[in-house]
Amino acid sequence: MSDRYLAAATQLILSTQAPGGVPPVTKTFFDEATNTASHVVHDPATMRGAIIDSVLDFDPAAGRTTTQGADAIIGYVRAESITIDWLLETHAHADHLSAAPYLQRHLGGKLAIGRDIIAVQTVFGKIFNAGTEFARDGSEFDRLFGDGDTFSVGNIAAIALHVPGHTPADSAYVIGDAVFTGDTLFMPDYGTARTDFPGGDASELYRSIRRLLALPHGTRLFLCHDYKTATRQNYAWETTVAEQRERNIHAHEGVSEEDFVAMRKARDATLAVPKLLLPSVQVNMRAGHLPPAEENGTTYLKVPINIL
Ligand SMILES: [Fe+2]
Repeated sequence: MSDRYLAAATQLILSTQAPGGVPPVTKTFFDEATNTASHVVHDPATMRGAIIDSVLDFDPAAGRTTTQGADAIIGYVRAESITIDWLLETHAHADHLSAAPYLQRHLGGKLAIGRDIIAVQTVFGKIFNAGTEFARDGSEFDRLFGDGDTFSVGNIAAIALHVPGHTPADSAYVIGDAVFTGDTLFMPDYGTARTDFPGGDASELYRSIRRLLALPHGTRLFLCHDYKTATRQNYAWETTVAEQRERNIHAHEGVSEEDFVAMRKARDATLAVPKLLLPSVQVNMRAGHLPPAEENGTTYLKVPINIL
């Protein structure tokens, strides 16, 4: 089956890398508390940019949010005089709260995610018994991307690719020759994302990964998380299609779908629930907004008992 969106992404990457192409500039902010890499990407010709997968600091013991991480991003964006057009989420994260609404208040830009967020909102809206004020139609976001939808960061063309598996709503964003993969692939020596959250599917993740790894070998891949390894003591978040095809311990060239699914299921069974899962999903399903305050003016997060 021909994949015209992948063909369009390939064309975009090759034309960006060709003489005269303008590759986007990237800067990564790594949050050690949640192992999350937030990326700022901009077009050096127009100084217009996007922020991908930002983190709101959250202390669950105290129930307190703070903004050191987001403020560091704001400081960089202002110092470089970048105008933010987009706040992109690769998916509804289960391990950190998004800072996108906070960044939007300070920097502007449109908040966007994959269209299948609606399925995620439906599942988690039910789990958290959210009220009717929670629309579950994606309207909390400014734009919902379908597979192959195009947008731009300044003069640099961009394409959203639907890459489900970790969750139903994962998108990868191809911006010039840089691909922001979300939770599909991790560094080659760490492997791939888990698929045991509601709506996750190891076979789907395998197919999403094969799709990303069909992009040109020199494509720059920017990952959403890193956890180091027994033999690598520094955090890393950038790799290439060629490196992943050659060396990804779970998904290198030649691993069959059957073997991948068996590996993923066995490994997922050993993984603990992420520390911030419950706070994260009930905030991120609302595009990073906290639930409405109660009559006393205080905002609460819920802990559903014996549900997950
Ligand atoms: Fe995730």
